[in-house]
Parts: sequence; C-alpha cells; structure tokens
Amino acid sequence: MSEKWPTAITDIEPNRVAVRGYDIAELMGQVSFGSAVYLILMAELPSEPVGRLMDAILVSSIDHGATPPSVLAARTVASTGASLSQSVSGGLTCINRWHGGAIEDCARQLGQIIERAGGQRSRLDKAAAEVLAEMKSRGQRMSGFGHRVHTADPRTARLFELAQQAGAAGLHVEAARAVERAFDAMGKELPINVDGAIGAILGDLKFPYEVMNGVFMIARTPGLVAHVVEEQTRMKPMRKVIAGQHVYDGPPRRSMCSG
Ligand SMILES: CC(C)(COP(=O)(O)OP(=O)(O)OC[C@H]1O[C@@H](n2cnc3c(N)ncnc32)[C@H](O)[C@@H]1OP(=O)(O)O)[C@@H](O)C(=O)NCCC(=O)NCCS
Repeated sequence: MSEKWPTAITDIEPNRVAVRGYDIAELMGQVSFGSAVYLILMAELPSEPVGRLMDAILVSSIDHGATPPSVLAARTVASTGASLSQSVSGGLTCINRWHGGAIEDCARQLGQIIERAGGQRSRLDKAAAEVLAEMKSRGQRMSGFGHRVHTADPRTARLFELAQQAGAAGLHVEAARAVERAFDAMGKELPINVDGAIGAILGDLKFPYEVMNGVFMIARTPGLVAHVVEEQTRMKPMRKVIAGQHVYDGPPRRSMCSG
C-alpha cells in the first residue's frame, strides 16, 4: 500500500464531517460564513467581533460593478458559450497584482515599513516616507493605494471602523495611515483602497501573506457567478464586451432600514 499523505483541514468518516476539528453540523447555524472562512484558513475559530469583521471583508469585495478586469474577462468567456465554471475561473485568473491581488503585496509592503520602524509606532511616518521614496526611485508602486473611481472609498472607512471595534487594528493599519500621510506630503492624493484596507487588517490578524489574495477570491466569486449568469441569460452570444459601455438597470438605491 502506498504511504498516506497528511491533511489537517477536514476529517471525514461515515456520517461525520469535522472542519479543523469542529463538527460541521454544530458550526452550521451558529457561525457566520466569515467565521467559517477564518476557521478553514487560520485553523481556529475567531472571536465574535473578528468573525463580524471577516464577514464585512467578504461583503466589501463581493462585487464592484461591470468594469473590473475579472468581470470583463468572465463575461467575455461566458459569451463564447463556455460553462459556468470555465467563465468564473476566467474571471478568477484576473485576480492578480493590480486587481484584488494588491492585498498580499500591500500587506508585505506594510510589513517592511513596520520592520524598518523597528515595530515602533512613533517611527512609522519616517519609515513609510523612506520606503515610498525608495519604491519611487525603482519605479515601483505601493499596492493598496489609489483608485480609478473612488477618492474616499466607503468600504475602506467602514472596514477600519469595524477593525477598530474588534480590537483588530494594529501596526499594519497604522502603517497604512502613515503611507497615506506620506503620499499627502508628496502632494499625491492616493488614498488607501479596499485592497489596501483588507491587506492591512489581514496583516494585523496575522494571516499568512500567501493566503490573503484567496480571501478576495472567496469574496468575489459570488459576484462573478452573478455576472456570468446575467451574461448568459440577458446578452447575445459572442457580443463585444466593451468596458464602461454598460448601463445599470437594477433596483434603485434602497436602504435596509426602510422597511
Ligand atoms: C489603482 C490604480 C491602477 C489607479 O490608477 P490611476 O488612478 O489610473 O492612476 P495612474 O496610473 O494614472 O497614476 C497617476 C499617478 O499616481 C501615481 N500612482 C498611482 N497609484 C500609485 C501607487 N499605488 N503608488 C505609487 N504611485 C502611484 C502614478 O505613478 C502616477 O504618478 P505620475 O503622475 O507622477 O506619473 C493605481 O492607483 C495603482 O496601481 N494602485 C496600486 C494597485 C492597487 O492597489 N490596485 C487595487 C485597486 S482597488
């Protein structure tokens, strides 16, 4: 018999499923999806406020309209008559360094700033300014900053607020603020974008870097499924999917509080 290979994620035996040791039937109805995502990636259940923060991260990135490259790619693949899985995976392949994938890079870069500051809050501003100047001289960009559409991304502010409430905002979040201030001092208005906020928060939650972009992929998959299904049910096959040439005709703006 060949040697067995190890896995520490989910244990299955007849009539029993345990994720990271927790009975799945016990988790169901008790933990939110965000908490379950935290559990499967971090191998422990989060505290309740951190679970809420994870939910907010997943909600924040569920979709961003019809212009992101992942959506254009998924719709283009879908328009050829490809299957749902082919179309969605076409979109997922676009989640890289400049789209969604800024999360991991941003967290790594914030980590460098923290390291340069010797882990001291009071030195973050100086360290951020130095790192940015060095990156600029190498022609590199700071991931997680700047946005094509938003100057004050509503998702970023809300995520930082929830991170604060959960007691999860630490040096990475502070380093991100220091970067924003350093850009300001350079006369550049490059606010933290949603990827940057998620990178900073996941950094403070001690997620391994290599897992971080996966959180965005998990969050964005429902949005991609919706776009692919809409493409295949509302549009003609083989159409030209032109960026920005769309018109929104869904429900008007509404509030969860209005009844
Ligand atoms: C998101 C992004 C592509 C938007 O770009 P944009 O608004 O079209 O801005 P441009 O690419 O035209 O850049 C405008 C100026 O700002 C600078 N700039 C933009 N984003 C920058 C960043 N993250 N770091 C450093 N400089 C940046 C550019 O170098 C350029 O400077 P210049 O005028 O001196 O040449 C860009 O800000 C970026 O690359 N950000 C990093 C990647 C990222 O976070 N992606 C996730 C987006 S949610």
